[in-house]
Amino acid sequence: MTQAITETDLQGIKLVRRGKVRDVYEVGEHLLIIATDRVSAFDVVLPNGIAGKGEILTQISLYWFRQMQDIMPNHIVATQVSDYPAVLRPYAQLLKGRSMLVKKARPMPVECIVRGYLSGSGWKEYQKSGSVCGIKLAGGLVESARLGEPIFTPSTKAEEGHDINISFDGMRSIVGDALAESLRDSSLKIYAKARELAEKKGIIIADTKFEFGMFGNDLILIDEVLTPDSSRFWSKKTYEPGRAQDSYDKQIIRDYLLTLDWDQTYPGPVLPDPVVEKALERYKEIYRIITGDAMPLPA
Ligand SMILES: Nc1ncnc2c1ncn2[C@@H]1O[C@H](COP(=O)(O)OP(=O)(O)O)[C@@H](O)[C@H]1O
Ligand SMILES: [Mg+2]
Repeated sequence: MTQAITETDLQGIKLVRRGKVRDVYEVGEHLLIIATDRVSAFDVVLPNGIAGKGEILTQISLYWFRQMQDIMPNHIVATQVSDYPAVLRPYAQLLKGRSMLVKKARPMPVECIVRGYLSGSGWKEYQKSGSVCGIKLAGGLVESARLGEPIFTPSTKAEEGHDINISFDGMRSIVGDALAESLRDSSLKIYAKARELAEKKGIIIADTKFEFGMFGNDLILIDEVLTPDSSRFWSKKTYEPGRAQDSYDKQIIRDYLLTLDWDQTYPGPVLPDPVVEKALERYKEIYRIITGDAMPLPA
């Protein structure tokens, strides 16, 4: 198996942030975002990565950025190493396929989550209170039920640890009324378009998270979009309300981790090869289904 790229070190280029999965460098007026092969589960970065994951997720994001550009401008400046500043050329091999040069935005301090189906923390909250992030839902919904209308359920963007779900009013008090409304409307619009496109390919986008930032006076879509790290993708073929669904994301990894006696704090356990291979297969499969391409991956 190819070696997973779990850490990058671009000599002489300023590292501004090592996120859970991506390393962010500053290059002139732009940022260079490199998706590594790191895997985070339950907000813990695991010791070993999945070789090729960074490329697959980057390419899925780029597909969606293109699909959405007429409804929402985004941060992309360049995606081909040949179009990057010359200082990055020595790293062409590393950067190819897994990086993007982007506009430096001021990230909104909230995560914009849209849910079309009842799952994860939304399902947990609904069982307790009948509502999700302060939105009252119809009674008697089962796990994974399709909601009548997709709902916008923002959360805080925690620097460390878990994000906390907030109500729309809570969000208003953080970013102001006008921005809160634009963020909600844009998120719902992007989700609606994505869901329609995905459904034609036999995929249900149960929920997803967007990040936006201000670039000058404009609100733009930043970060990653509609990847298995930021969304729950289900197969229409096997979808069955009333239970948890098999998803094209880290489910395989989470399921494995839940068999262990691990308290979900650092350090995380090493993933055995068969789990890594199975997860990679799932990532490749969702890439193929969504973009319609076979991923030209390293062997
Ligand atoms: N265009 C942009 N301008 C500024 N920051 C960005 C932009 N796009 C993404 N980011 C930030 O880069 C980081 C990406 O790394 P990631 O691994 O997702 O980190 P995290 O652990 O915070 O999820 C995130 O903090 C995200 O908010
Ligand atoms: Mg992130």
